[in-house]
Amino acid sequence: MKPDIINQNIGGSWAYSAEVRNHFFSPQNLLWENPSEADYDAEGMVGSPACGDVMRVWLKIDPKRDTITDFKWRTFGCASAIAATSMLSVMVTEKQGMKIDEALTITPQDIIARLDGLPDRKIHCSVLGDKALRAAINHWFKKTDQLSRIIVDGKKLIDPNTKVTEADIEEAVLEGALTLEAVQKRTKVGIGYPQCLPVVEELIRFYKEKYFG
Ligand code: FES
Repeated sequence: MKPDIINQNIGGSWAYSAEVRNHFFSPQNLLWENPSEADYDAEGMVGSPACGDVMRVWLKIDPKRDTITDFKWRTFGCASAIAATSMLSVMVTEKQGMKIDEALTITPQDIIARLDGLPDRKIHCSVLGDKALRAAINHWFKKTDQLSRIIVDGKKLIDPNTKVTEADIEEAVLEGALTLEAVQKRTKVGIGYPQCLPVVEELIRFYKEKYFG
């Protein structure tokens, strides 16, 4: 397949699937302006520590059916983030909307499968929409006093010296740091606290398997 992107510095290249191109060139449910508060029931916003890009998601929810009936979004992200969030918005709203509990089970892998794949180094971009959706659902739970349903991303501290958390290790792996050395270069984990290194190695193996198979 002819590559869509060629890195002039390192000569690397990748190509996007037809489905990724469709959603990038004709994004579904994208908003060009922020909506007013009356237009939605819940809102979520996240930034990617991997690239600094930002994603906002707005939901309409039918409380009687506990179902998401509308999913709108805006991003300052790349082509892959646009395609992945467009696809996510379709998955959540097709067939009269998705139950909230079902929407919470969607993984970046589900989105990538519907897109017929994403280049490895773009996988973290598909996580952005997914995280913003979860933030919006949490906002809805807070707003409607369903506090026991709130899910907070587990942020376990791995290295008390450098304050590196499990989530930081996950981000590093998503960004392509697949060895202990690469993760340390990116996060400084274990420098001055080598006791944590066996746990770090285990996490690298876990997230490598999770995201790259
Ligand atoms: S969302 Fe930032 S590089 Fe894709």
